Amino acid sequence: MTFKSYPCIRTKLPGPNAVQYLEKEKKYISPSSTKGYPLVVKSAKGMVVTDVDDNIFLDFTSGVAVCNTGHNHDQIVASISSQASTLIHMSGADFYNPLQIQLAEKLSAICPGSYTKRVFFGNSGAESVEAAFKLARYHTKRSIVIAFYNAFHGRTMGALSLTASKLNQRKHFLPLIPEVIHIPYAYCYRCHYGLTPDNCHMACVTWIREELFKTKVPPEDVAAIFVEIIQGEGGYIVPPKEFHKALYQLTRDFNILYIADEAQSGMGRTGRMFASEHFDIVPDIITLAKGIASGLPLSAMVASEKIMNWLPGSHASTFGGNPVSCQAALTTIRLLEEGLIDNAAKQGNYMINELKKLERTYPIIGDVRGLGLMLAAEIVKDKQTKEYVPEVRDSIIQKAFSKGLLLLGCGRSAIRFCPPLILAKDDVDIALSIFKECLVETIQGKF
Ligand SMILES: Cc1ncc(COP(=O)(O)O)c(C=O)c1O
Repeated sequence: MTFKSYPCIRTKLPGPNAVQYLEKEKKYISPSSTKGYPLVVKSAKGMVVTDVDDNIFLDFTSGVAVCNTGHNHDQIVASISSQASTLIHMSGADFYNPLQIQLAEKLSAICPGSYTKRVFFGNSGAESVEAAFKLARYHTKRSIVIAFYNAFHGRTMGALSLTASKLNQRKHFLPLIPEVIHIPYAYCYRCHYGLTPDNCHMACVTWIREELFKTKVPPEDVAAIFVEIIQGEGGYIVPPKEFHKALYQLTRDFNILYIADEAQSGMGRTGRMFASEHFDIVPDIITLAKGIASGLPLSAMVASEKIMNWLPGSHASTFGGNPVSCQAALTTIRLLEEGLIDNAAKQGNYMINELKKLERTYPIIGDVRGLGLMLAAEIVKDKQTKEYVPEVRDSIIQKAFSKGLLLLGCGRSAIRFCPPLILAKDDVDIALSIFKECLVETIQGKF
């Protein structure tokens, strides 16, 4: 391992400056978000984040899977600055915008499917999902939508109706949009049907065809199936290839739209531009957000011109497809294509093998899974019972923070690793040696 100057923790955490901000945050900021540890950020560059007390952290979160090109990449900063000095805003809802058109042409070319696609631009993942939900109903004239348990599609009312990940996200917001049916995902480590992938014949998809569609849900009333190609916030759950194939076939058989929410799994994160490519799936609609513009707010909902044929006035956004965000996205895609996707595949391969070694060594790692740099370790009480231990998972994340490694949880008991795609092998080694220390201390009872 070569010497790196990070992480470097200089103060007790939170440090004195952070404490002051945390007190004010409590007073002035909505308490509705979940912040796992008291990181108050001053600046960030590449793989590292510096807090307001000059503590330096190694970031294995990418600001929640957003900064795929690393923090403040020089070329992203240059393209944003140059665009900001030329044009910041002239709403794409009412006026034409060359950068939107340029980015839409690029997305049409790179999204799965060798046909021309159209793009609707929003500002967040939830907005792209809302747009897809509306388009699905508009295009099919059908009302029912199917989504999955553990799915996270966002928190606005339409997107929240599809989300079924954590109770707090839905509590006291009911009723949501009617006619959304949730079904079990292919979470093979904890198969809903008690089966294993080698003998299940995709029972979770067969159940839709043979039970759901024959008892409760008329398939000719189903507009779309919303699916995360890899479930993100719900646990970084990677289904078998056959799951998506069988699900896709089901949608072909009943003229149902297959909508892939790639807000988190897209933009190179899994070692391919889109996770759909690992599964040989060409979604009818694809939603993109998070990593698309290296930290600037932007999302995209992409569909064929045949599907995206709604009338003027059907849907629009004042800020969606802002020129500065579009410029950042064009530079992001270029950087991904010029090597970052390949690096994600290479480093991800190395990292998952190292994580699997830890899984074999430590009894509290029940499962290691993922593709590219969308990786997770599920923490359990023991490998036999697979009992969820969210408090142990949270304490590992806290320990990592105190040692200068930023991690996030996902699902009920898993830890996700979603570093910037620029990372080097040394970064993986540093992160995993800290993670290992945290596991050892946890097992030895040093909570
Ligand atoms: C798959 C998926 N869809 C939608 C969203 C919502 O994105 P946003 O928070 O930008 O609204 C997320 C956010 O985590 C996500 O992971």
